[in-house]
Amino acid sequence: MTLQIGIIGTGWFSKVHADILARMEGVRVAAVCGTTLEKAEAMASVYDAVGYGELEHMLDGEKLDAVYICVPPMSHGSIEAELIRRGIPFLVEKPLSTGMDIPRQVLDQVQKSGLLTSVGYHFRYQEAAQVLQQAMQEQTVGMALGRWMGGMPGVAWWRRQDGSGGQFVEQTTHIVDLLRYCAGEVTEVYAVAAQRSMHEKHEHVTVADVANVTLKLESGAIASIANTCLLPDGEGGAGLQFYTDAGVWDWTPERLLLPSAAPHAMAGLEIPAGHNPYERENEAFIHALRTGDRSRILSDYADACRTQEITTAALVSADSGLPVQLQRSKHLSH
Ligand SMILES: NC(=O)c1ccc[n+]([C@@H]2O[C@H](COP(=O)([O-])OP(=O)(O)OC[C@H]3O[C@@H](n4cnc5c(N)ncnc54)[C@H](O)[C@@H]3O)[C@@H](O)[C@H]2O)c1
Repeated sequence: MTLQIGIIGTGWFSKVHADILARMEGVRVAAVCGTTLEKAEAMASVYDAVGYGELEHMLDGEKLDAVYICVPPMSHGSIEAELIRRGIPFLVEKPLSTGMDIPRQVLDQVQKSGLLTSVGYHFRYQEAAQVLQQAMQEQTVGMALGRWMGGMPGVAWWRRQDGSGGQFVEQTTHIVDLLRYCAGEVTEVYAVAAQRSMHEKHEHVTVADVANVTLKLESGAIASIANTCLLPDGEGGAGLQFYTDAGVWDWTPERLLLPSAAPHAMAGLEIPAGHNPYERENEAFIHALRTGDRSRILSDYADACRTQEITTAALVSADSGLPVQLQRSKHLSH
């Protein structure tokens, strides 16, 4: 049976997912929903799909097996509510929202319905990240250092705090998620952030362009994650390092470097990122749709809420100047 997939959003990342889905056996991009019918039809025509300007029209007009939600952070909430109401599984791109209110409401409904979900924390699907994650289970992590350093994305919504949630919520969330995946849960967050230059260079910039976030982990380890979006294009880079008594495990999106003293068959080696993690993420979701086996999905809505809780706690801390203890609500607890 060919699975019929709908896509919401007609931007860059909708197309990345649609291209991957279009190459998969037994999967069809059947419909695209955009903010206008014109934009939706333009994208839909590439995949021989039907374009819609309204979500309800798409869901009434098509019998969809799942929907991909690839919209900016500020556009979440009513989309998820409608899909849950209709019992349609979804893969949603990170971050879940600009804050924590909508994810809490959505999670409540996801858990009540038992709906199949997946969230686009694609680094978890990298071969190098898998090696790192497994290795960290055998190490005592002393501390971690993470970073996401770069320029400011061109899309208007990204520059507005109420559009993207800011860089830590929108981009650096990948590093926070990888930290959690490898080293466990975070219990306390303290952040400082500032606007240094981008608000003077561009109009309508309300996000901070530098931030540093200190985290305490349940294990007793500590972490520090910094980000900036004030660099010229092409400068900077992202990464996460774990400091252990066996040495430094140094991950970037391109590769993992293992310490030479690592108690590991690949000690001292550089491990390339490996197979396209977006393809793996899509394969895991499609496999779950087809078989009901969710075990290959490495980030579902409940798990992603924990990452979102940390990134939004950093916003609260930067605003108040105080550390934020993470209170595990019953919906976010194991
Ligand atoms: N996992 C990753 O590596 C990765 C990479 C890029 C983007 N993303 C995420 O994907 C999301 C989208 O990013 P993008 O780069 O495609 O942005 P974009 O600005 O290129 O596209 C967003 C699209 O969403 C549409 N949209 C907004 N609200 C909508 C609504 N209510 N209904 C239908 N369409 C709506 C816009 O018209 C636009 O076409 C963001 O959350 C971003 O963080 C993830």
